Amino acid sequence: MGITTVSTIAELKALSAQLLAAAPGPAGHGGGTLGLVPTMGALHRGHAELARAAVAENAVVVASVFVNPLQFGDPVDLERYPRTTEADLAVLDAAGVDIMFAPPVEEMYPGGEPAVRVTAGRLGELYEGASRPGHFDGALTVVAKLLHAGRPDTGLAPADPAGRQSYRAYFGQKDAQQLALVRRMVADLNFPVDIVPVPIVRDSDGLALSSRNRFLSDGERDAALVLSRALRLLRRRADAHEPLDIPSAEELVHMTPGVELDYLEVVDPGTLAARAENCQDTPFTGQALALIAARVGPVRLIDNVTLG
Ligand code: PAJ
Repeated sequence: MGITTVSTIAELKALSAQLLAAAPGPAGHGGGTLGLVPTMGALHRGHAELARAAVAENAVVVASVFVNPLQFGDPVDLERYPRTTEADLAVLDAAGVDIMFAPPVEEMYPGGEPAVRVTAGRLGELYEGASRPGHFDGALTVVAKLLHAGRPDTGLAPADPAGRQSYRAYFGQKDAQQLALVRRMVADLNFPVDIVPVPIVRDSDGLALSSRNRFLSDGERDAALVLSRALRLLRRRADAHEPLDIPSAEELVHMTPGVELDYLEVVDPGTLAARAENCQDTPFTGQALALIAARVGPVRLIDNVTLG
């Protein structure tokens, strides 16, 4: 069966319950599992990978396409965010998604902007949050709403004996800080859902796929490759248990015309707390995440890599 588009939460709940009741479930599962893939549309192979991961292990898969005004600080950025609904539908259909949930703003925020919101706390103010105040509060608020909207009222199986929930939501490691914050929200506020991380999808030259890459000129796109190059340099040093020497990786970025480095940080992969010792000249040990953000021409790009 092909994909169905719905635009209200009521339709979404009714259809997902109906599909769950009819679905035999993927091999190895007894059915009764639902995967939710939240997106803002302008879908590319990175999003498709999330959808495929969800399709591989759930009886029913819902992908949401909603450009969330709450997480945009800059109205111009919100306005120019690409909206490609027809193409998005084709991407999701090809990945095997059952339902595209594409609500209008009034469906998600019927009373205008919500008075009560989720706050991301201290971690929401670091890294991406430092240059985008309120961004993670807005993102977590809509993720909370989508997690509620996407959870069917009937048809979900109980958690499996290993404690795995039958309701799962899929997030890309590309947005490492968002993923860490969603995990914290789900743990801190007892959301009954498993958060499933999906590895970063890159172009063959290393550039992490992003809906914003389309705004790069050819020259800017070439320059943007320095982000993944700097991260690969750090990974090579980590693999060799050498000192990471962050300043030399920063220098690589600074030397690239048209690229303005915002931060390059080595952090704890779970808490995202800075691992200051790895910026010094001690040999690298353990596990960490290197986060990078830079402005390239008209866009702000982020990337990250696991070390160790
Ligand atoms: P969006 O930027 O559309 O991303 C949707 C999901 O796709 C996120 O989980 C993101 O990490 C993942 N993703 C994007 N590019 C990726 C890539 N190259 N490889 C792997 N995964 C990738 O993130 C958002 O939307 C919003 O903040 C949202 C969570 C939907 C809330 O509005």
